[in-house]
Amino acid sequence: MAGTLVAYFTYSGNAKKVAERVAELAGADLFEIQTAAPYSTDYQTCIEEARKEIAEHARPALTAKVEDIGKYDRLILGFPNWCSTCPMPILSFLEAYDLTGMRIDSFVTNGGGGCGNSAEDIRKSSKGAEVSESINGNDLTDERIKEWLGL
Ligand SMILES: Cc1cc2nc3c(=O)[nH]c(=O)nc-3n(C[C@H](O)[C@H](O)[C@H](O)COP(=O)(O)O)c2cc1C
Repeated sequence: MAGTLVAYFTYSGNAKKVAERVAELAGADLFEIQTAAPYSTDYQTCIEEARKEIAEHARPALTAKVEDIGKYDRLILGFPNWCSTCPMPILSFLEAYDLTGMRIDSFVTNGGGGCGNSAEDIRKSSKGAEVSESINGNDLTDERIKEWLGL
């Protein structure tokens, strides 16, 4: 039976909180996307690291893989807006799987810049998947989450 996976990346915890709530409401499995090399804990340095990764089209190595992605037909991604797109580890994650036929939705926590180009960049890294527009992940209520996911 096909199911739903909520996969998230977080730097300061906001996307984690929302991902946990989304997984709870959707009855989905939860997976944290983590990089092998941590980002700097200094905010400004982290921004420089993120900018460099975007410029270099980097795909940072991750610590773990989802065991059986074939169990899922829906993927819900959660992550912060980093320099007007998704963090590059999200693209590392997507490119590690065959996502043909997957439905992908995403929410983006942000500092006021909304979702940036995240959906467009996710689409390029998930060939054969159906990728919806990202939604703003700040201040999501249970009602809004249910409406968004059709629960
Ligand atoms: C490297 C980096 C780049 C960021 N770039 C943006 C940006 O371009 N636009 C924006 O609105 N917020 C930006 N932010 C702020 C985060 O998106 C925001 O704080 C978010 O809520 C963090 O989610 P998290 O706690 O799950 O990491 C950036 C934060 C970091 C660390």
